[in-house]
Amino acid sequence: MSFPATVHVVESSSRDGLQSLGAIIPTEAKAALIDALAATGITDFDAVSFVSPKWVPQMADGAEVVAAVTAPNVTLGGLVPNMKGLENAMAAGLTSIGVLTAASDTFNEKNINATVDESMHRIRRIILEAPEAVTINAYVSTATHCPFEGEQDPDWVAHLGETLLEWGAHTVTLGETIGKATPYHMERLLGEVLGRVPVDVLGVHLHDTYGQAIANTLVALEHGVAKMDSSAGGLGGCPYAPGASGNVATEDLLYLLDGMGIGHGIDLRSVAEVAERFCAEHNLTYNSRAGRALLAA
Ligand code: HMG
Ligand code: MG
Repeated sequence: MSFPATVHVVESSSRDGLQSLGAIIPTEAKAALIDALAATGITDFDAVSFVSPKWVPQMADGAEVVAAVTAPNVTLGGLVPNMKGLENAMAAGLTSIGVLTAASDTFNEKNINATVDESMHRIRRIILEAPEAVTINAYVSTATHCPFEGEQDPDWVAHLGETLLEWGAHTVTLGETIGKATPYHMERLLGEVLGRVPVDVLGVHLHDTYGQAIANTLVALEHGVAKMDSSAGGLGGCPYAPGASGNVATEDLLYLLDGMGIGHGIDLRSVAEVAERFCAEHNLTYNSRAGRALLAA
């Protein structure tokens, strides 16, 4: 068991956190959320998407959000599902993008209208065409469970991750899209993936639907994984994963890391204050247990 000394937190609230909401959050409010979270010490944001506005209307203003952020020294990442997304992300000046496939065909078809094989080839083209200076993170969604096909084969997920790295992705993030995995599933997944994907280029993106995200985070830490997505206030879900709730709350993740003496460079209480205020302003449920406890103390 070798816990990492520090964890790199990727903040997903303005992208994963908001993408499923029906009521459109104004561009200025999204940018203000990123600015306020940047002031807490967060430096890396899964900030926006360059997907079809017909599929996900909430994310239609990706370029405008990026232009409106004023925080210095932050990385703003954008989700890019195809070449049109790449063009738009480059026009917006992004230097970091997320490309995506799922492990299962059914979810992938519902999410990005492509089989796994088709999306792998889309990703290959994006990697080839993206300017060299752009950092590319490849998500493998439904890494343990698909909402339609059930449990996934860890060997297949490892194969996808390994292939994406061979093709030139800089990092691979395992998406536990519907939050169904228990530590048993995480252990099984990481046992397989870490034989083929080096731990220093592996991240996890854990949804908390069944309340397992912190337990699963601990399994990832035990394996030395040091890159973790989270969402302030526990905001989020995927519009094409019925019933899935948000990522592990950033506050809950930071509380765990603080308790274990693992560094992260972020002020936990300030994240809770920012996220609680954002939720109150937009009539959203504030979903961090650690945050609620801290703010009540
Ligand atoms: P499609 O309908 O097959 O696309 O959708 P198409 O290529 O046939 O084009 C149809 C129309 O969309 C055309 O416009 C294109 O120009 C336009 P028209 O001629 O009809 O006016 N279009 C675009 N517009 C803007 N940006 C684009 C773009 N591409 C085409 N990039 C597509 C395919 C991939 C576009 C669609 O399925 C899509 O946008 N899906 C995204 C869904 C999404 O955002 N899901 C949530 C994010 S994934 C997630 O949350 C999981 C994650 O968090 C990890 C985890 O939890 O596991 C990352
Ligand atoms: Mg997600």
